[in-house]
Order: sequence, then C-alpha cells, then structure tokens
Amino acid sequence: MIPLKEATAEKHKQAERMPFNIRMFRGQLSKDEYRLYLVQQAEIFNAIEAKGTPHPSLNRHTLVQADIEELKEAGSTTDELLESTRTYVSHLNSLLGNDILPHVYLNYLAIMFGGQMMKKAVPSTGRMYDFDNMQEAMMAVRQVQRDDWADEVNKGFDYLITIFDELEKVTVSQ
Ligand code: HEM
Repeated sequence: MIPLKEATAEKHKQAERMPFNIRMFRGQLSKDEYRLYLVQQAEIFNAIEAKGTPHPSLNRHTLVQADIEELKEAGSTTDELLESTRTYVSHLNSLLGNDILPHVYLNYLAIMFGGQMMKKAVPSTGRMYDFDNMQEAMMAVRQVQRDDWADEVNKGFDYLITIFDELEKVTVSQ
C-alpha cells in the first residue's frame, strides 16, 4: 500500500497553495483575518478533542482560546463560524471511535510541521503552535497512523481546502 504521506501529497500541495494560507505564511494577515482563522481552528479542535486524542500534549483547545482572547484584547472582533467549518465539524461529529484518528493526524501534524514556520508569521503570540513535549506527542500519532487512512485524510484535506477558500472570499470582500 502507498505510504500515507505519499497518498495525500497532492492534496497537501493544494492546501499549502491556497491564497489565504499563502498570505498567512507571508505574514500578510491582519489581526482580524487571523482571528477569523483561529475561530475555525478552535471549532475543529474542539470537535476532535471531545472524542479524545492519543496524547494530552496534543490538545489545542486552551491554547487556541488564549490566542483568540489576545486578539480580542487587541480590538479584533470577528468570530463568525463559516459554513464550510460547520460542514467539516458535522462530519467530525459523525465519526465513531477510532475513525477520528485520520483527522488527528491531519490537523495536529499540520500544526507541528507547517505550523512551526507559521508561528513566526502570524500577528499573535502563536500559542497554538506550542507543544509541551512535541516529540512524544508526535510519536503518539505516528504509532497509530495507518496507510489505509488515505481516503479519509484526503477527504479531510478537501474540507480544509473549502475552509481556506471561504476564508479568502470572506476576508477579501470585507
Ligand atoms: C504554508 C502551509 C504549509 C507548509 C509550509 C507545510 C509544510 C509542511 C512540511 C515541511 C512538512 C514536513 C514534510 C516532510 O516530512 O518532508 C509537512 C507535513 C505535514 N503537513 Fe503541512 N504544510 C502546510 C500546510 C498544511 C496544511 C494546511 C495541512 C492540513 C491541515 C498540512 C498537513 C500536514 C501533515 C498531515 C503533515 C505530515 C505528513 C507526514 O509526515 O505524514 N500542512 N507540512
């Protein structure tokens, strides 16, 4: 079977190249725009963490909330939950037992890899990208990871690509 990373590489490339993501990576997001992104991330993490993750250091709920609060204090007020996020979250909520794990792989390794570069570019402290004991937390994901998750991970990428698309549409029209 094709290794998971290889089987999902095309979608990774597509997600990485979404205009909103590119602006975030280049440090071009305003506080309002970044906060809107965090509000979507918080909802995704909450849905996953309600079902449990393989290591306590993975959990992002408190950290993302702190980043959102920091931006609120800085005067940023956007906290709209996008339609595309609602759609992904309802998919997450429908998953039973270990079926959530491909989305743990997708959303938490994203923060560990691309996220470490993102931390330097975003208009906040970026607590969401901080992990106590990152190696151990990553190993916990690597230990459960399976190559037959490719379809579900690619589906997750599609949901996230749609969210990036809506984020760009909403922020550019503001
Ligand atoms: C500017 C945006 C991004 C950059 C620069 C970036 C960069 C990277 C890098 C350098 C790696 C490590 C690749 C390697 O081991 O050779 C990685 C892995 C990964 N990224 Fe991204 N990424 C970005 C966006 C995303 C997004 C939006 C997602 C999905 C939410 C994502 C999910 C993942 C996953 C799941 C892995 C782990 C692959 C594996 O080793 O099994 N990335 N990323």
